[in-house]
Amino acid sequence: MALLEIKNLHVALEDGSEIVKGVDLAVDLGEKHAIMGPNGSGKSTLAYALMGHPAYTITNGQILFGGEDVTKLGADERAQRGLFLAFQHPHAIPGVTVTSFLRSAINAIRKARSGGEDDPIPIPEFRKELESAMGTLKVSRELASRYVNDGFSGGERKRVEVLQLAMLKPRIAILDETDTGLDIDALRIVAGGVNSLVGADMGALLITHYQRLLNYVEPDFVHVFMQGRIVAEGGPELAKQLEAEGYEMFSSNGAGGGEAA
Ligand SMILES: Nc1ncnc2c1ncn2[C@@H]1O[C@H](COP(=O)(O)OP(=O)(O)OP(=O)(O)O)[C@@H](O)[C@H]1O
Ligand SMILES: [Mg+2]
Repeated sequence: MALLEIKNLHVALEDGSEIVKGVDLAVDLGEKHAIMGPNGSGKSTLAYALMGHPAYTITNGQILFGGEDVTKLGADERAQRGLFLAFQHPHAIPGVTVTSFLRSAINAIRKARSGGEDDPIPIPEFRKELESAMGTLKVSRELASRYVNDGFSGGERKRVEVLQLAMLKPRIAILDETDTGLDIDALRIVAGGVNSLVGADMGALLITHYQRLLNYVEPDFVHVFMQGRIVAEGGPELAKQLEAEGYEMFSSNGAGGGEAA
């Protein structure tokens, strides 16, 4: 059994409209999965539902993490178990610096893992890890001392998200649209971060429209997502085919018609 198993997942919005219409997906440690699909097909909705965002209701199906049913757990409880979502539109957190945000997030996870007892990371250990990750990801001291996402450029946000990945060490990382607005250097850094982090202790689910990110992060599995469902699956060659031919070819076989997305 894979670490993350999604079974027949259906997700509806608060008004009851169903956006995700029965998704089966398994992501294990050491694997890179890409979900590609047109605008409005429900990719971010799937990601939010996986993280337990309260605006997205799971109306059917299950999310299993390490064999445990986490479908009804809150976002914090999922994060403590090692699920991580880099948001497509991350919120600014005025008054909280990147550094103090990372330290609080690490300490919250450590506390949950030691059965509710405070177990803060020793400051020298935190500093050492942070400096090493900042070096690798080319995050400047100036950026780390600013308030989270407050006036960050698109590229800066993404670097800080990958810094979060490196510091929080989730077991399954979900990255939504990480290539949006990245210049080529930032794209390489983000991809390099993902490539170096995915391994025996981490698997990743990358949600993207573009082949571009996938030139740097070679996925093991590609899932084509249309109108709330996975309509095709394959290896990296599928992403290249999509880039060349578009989503049209999938809209008539099994996706339920050619409704504009
Ligand atoms: N909180 C919300 N309130 C209202 N509508 C929503 C909400 N979240 C998602 N939707 C709608 O659900 C549909 C799917 O949106 P979603 O963001 O999941 O698509 P996506 O595949 O991530 O698209 P993109 O590629 O543009 O990021 C869209 O029609 C969107 O407007
Ligand atoms: Mg989206």
